[in-house]
Amino acid sequence: MPCLTVQLEDRSYPIEVGSAILETTNIFAEHIRASSALVVTNSTVAPLYLKRVNDRLQHISKLDHLILPDGECYKNLEILNLIFDKLLADRHGRDTTLIALGGGVIGDMVGFAAASYQRGVDFIQVPTTLLSQVDSSVGGKTGVNHPMGKNMIGAFYQPKAVIIDTQVLSTLPDREFAAGMAEVIKYGMIYDRVFFDWLEEHMAEIMARNEHLLTKAILRCCAIKAEVVAADELENNSRAILNFGHTYGHAIEVAQGYGNWLHGEAVGAGMAMACQLSYDHGWLSQMELTRALRLIASANLPVAPPSGMRGEDFMRYMALDKKVSAGKLNLILLKGLGAAIVTANFEQHLLLSQLNQLNT
Ligand code: NAD
Ligand code: GLY
Repeated sequence: MPCLTVQLEDRSYPIEVGSAILETTNIFAEHIRASSALVVTNSTVAPLYLKRVNDRLQHISKLDHLILPDGECYKNLEILNLIFDKLLADRHGRDTTLIALGGGVIGDMVGFAAASYQRGVDFIQVPTTLLSQVDSSVGGKTGVNHPMGKNMIGAFYQPKAVIIDTQVLSTLPDREFAAGMAEVIKYGMIYDRVFFDWLEEHMAEIMARNEHLLTKAILRCCAIKAEVVAADELENNSRAILNFGHTYGHAIEVAQGYGNWLHGEAVGAGMAMACQLSYDHGWLSQMELTRALRLIASANLPVAPPSGMRGEDFMRYMALDKKVSAGKLNLILLKGLGAAIVTANFEQHLLLSQLNQLNT
């Protein structure tokens, strides 16, 4: 079974990837120290995979589960509190382990619960969407949304292990699969030109969920993410490249209302806008821009923002971005395919002109 490692000294952890690895008897054994665990999932994933995970945890003497409502709109403090209620009611101590079974919403919330319950307990990520398998389950960003901004309340807190069963993607709806492809494409654009070329060549088969190619793609994405996180865990600088397209994307998600545009869809349109701005700076050629937009579209993702969204909507929400420092917005832009930069020194007038065009 392929296994990668996120190298963070004493907090290093494995990412195990394989088809049907949730059928492996001891898959959790070495990652759980204590005799208690709480599996947290949602109402969509529970009927599909909760029994399978519970069956692998039969060696845990105190095993509980909690099923949360499904949706980005529930990624908030009120629903997070249900996890604390459950942990306290069932008397879980500091030695318990939380298991996040679901997509990025569950992973982010359970990670944050683990970071803060009794000042920190262990947790394991079992991501079940493509997006969470290639991105959100790795790297320790956890948290919830606030009505005024995406992921505004949270913590960096690393899991003990990430268990990726590629077979569970077979039940993922097409729209969610496409949303996950946004993050896959992101890695090619920001970090790995060869991977970008490979995605162009194999996109049709990947969209048809060829498991062999999909597993290759997931492994490459996780390897890139592990490298980037190991170099800058707390996003002091270089990790910010992983937010390529997200500054525009988060503005779309908030403006549209959480869950109306999927995170990956908003990132798809956001990456298209970031590519356009990179081109406007002369940092991408016309051919590179065309290829970038074509790749996003070939994953059935939008390459333009929602029709009703105006320039001032972007301005308002982009000003709240976590990458604003000393009053200056930092953007992630491309200097060629496969090479991202984090910069506050972009041409402001080019951004304004891009956003103003939305008003015409
Ligand atoms: P999600 O968690 O809402 O899952 C999408 C949908 O798929 C849900 O309805 C879910 O119940 C369903 N689902 C999950 N697995 C399934 C399966 N195997 N079969 C059928 N249905 C399944 O969304 P997501 O796209 O996984 O994650 C988006 C979230 O991740 C956002 O909140 C975003 O902010 C966050 N995120 C976090 C990071 C990070 O680094 N922490 C990175 C990227 C995104
Ligand atoms: N998804 C962005 C990050 O993990 O940094």
